[in-house]
Amino acid sequence: MTELDVTPTPLALLMLGRQSDAASERGVDCPGALPPASDPSLVERAREAKAALGGKVFVLGHHYQRDEVIAFADVTGDSFRLAQQAAARPDAPYIVFCGVHFMAESADILTGPGQHVVLPDLAAGCSMADMATFEQVEDCWDQLVEAGVADATVPVSYMNSSAAIKGFTGRHGGTICTSSNAQRALDWAFGKGTKVLFLPDQHLGRNTAVRDLGLSLDDCVVWNPRKPMGGNTVQQLQAAKMILWKGHCSVHGRFTVDAVIDVRARVPGVQVLVHPECSYEVVSAADLVGSTERIIKLVEASPAGSKWAIGTELNLVQRLANAHPDKTIVFLEKTVCFCSTMNRIDLPHLVWALEELVAGRIPNQITVEPETAAYARQALDQMLALP
Ligand code: 13P
Ligand code: SF4
Repeated sequence: MTELDVTPTPLALLMLGRQSDAASERGVDCPGALPPASDPSLVERAREAKAALGGKVFVLGHHYQRDEVIAFADVTGDSFRLAQQAAARPDAPYIVFCGVHFMAESADILTGPGQHVVLPDLAAGCSMADMATFEQVEDCWDQLVEAGVADATVPVSYMNSSAAIKGFTGRHGGTICTSSNAQRALDWAFGKGTKVLFLPDQHLGRNTAVRDLGLSLDDCVVWNPRKPMGGNTVQQLQAAKMILWKGHCSVHGRFTVDAVIDVRARVPGVQVLVHPECSYEVVSAADLVGSTERIIKLVEASPAGSKWAIGTELNLVQRLANAHPDKTIVFLEKTVCFCSTMNRIDLPHLVWALEELVAGRIPNQITVEPETAAYARQALDQMLALP
């Protein structure tokens, strides 16, 4: 964990929550008084606002959130657990989602009409989710129809996708998956059809299909939305079992096979544990693979003296290292890999959101339009019901 090496994005150049970016899908407006990060009373203000709201607020925190935010989460989890938890709290009128936009949308879809989902900073998006737009996916489906393969194809969409893509998935009889149930989702889908259109993370799709289901790399084709027929011939589409959308996570894309080789030399006896959003080559070079929840469980269950090199977002790895001083826990890359959008949710934004709720205003509410939500709910319910 050494020097900071984060690629600046146009959004990162904006002061947090203070301005708006017309080119951004979500904007970063944060009306009202956002407390400065230097305010020494932030922790106290967050405590007071939470206490004033009592059981009316339920704060969810994804494992990639900052420590200062996790400290106020009623529950922490991976995206699957957080979706389950949101669905299991019909009594809380306010769900404050400390995570990213697609997670808050899913929470809105899974909660009742009297519940309001709040995302403390609207700029907390996910670059992977943005790699599959609704128009591109509809266009892809039309081309699969043209190629004569749509009837045999079941869409399986990663949770990291917009509500519109989840709606598409439900409308075409598919399911959502997360990194903790992707294998079960693919087993289910191959019981229904002979092909899967996997959106939008090619790596999770490929890793699960090849490593868990025993398909071959040749069974997989990549769909590039910028090319006719996704860059494939009709014959290739007919022969393929997995049609993998050309999307990826820029954070997990930074882990390399060289880093795996390097850490094995630096830390003898180390076990390399990576998230399945890493490339097939990196996952194959590692010892173990798992969702954020599985990563935590594996480290927690390991004996004192265990050595781990972990390939996932840095907030989580640092928290694990701090919580387990009796184990050696190192970050797989030499450069820093925070998820910059997850990091948008900081204590000032959380305080602002909670204090707005105390004042009777609902800030940054995330709502999904009803028709999309109904289809997306079918796909999410299918995930929650996976055997
Ligand atoms: P999990 O499903 O493991 O929580 O991962 C979500 C995510 O965004 C990983 O980049
Ligand atoms: Fe999206 Fe990657 Fe951040 Fe996860 S780590 S929220 S996939 S950009």
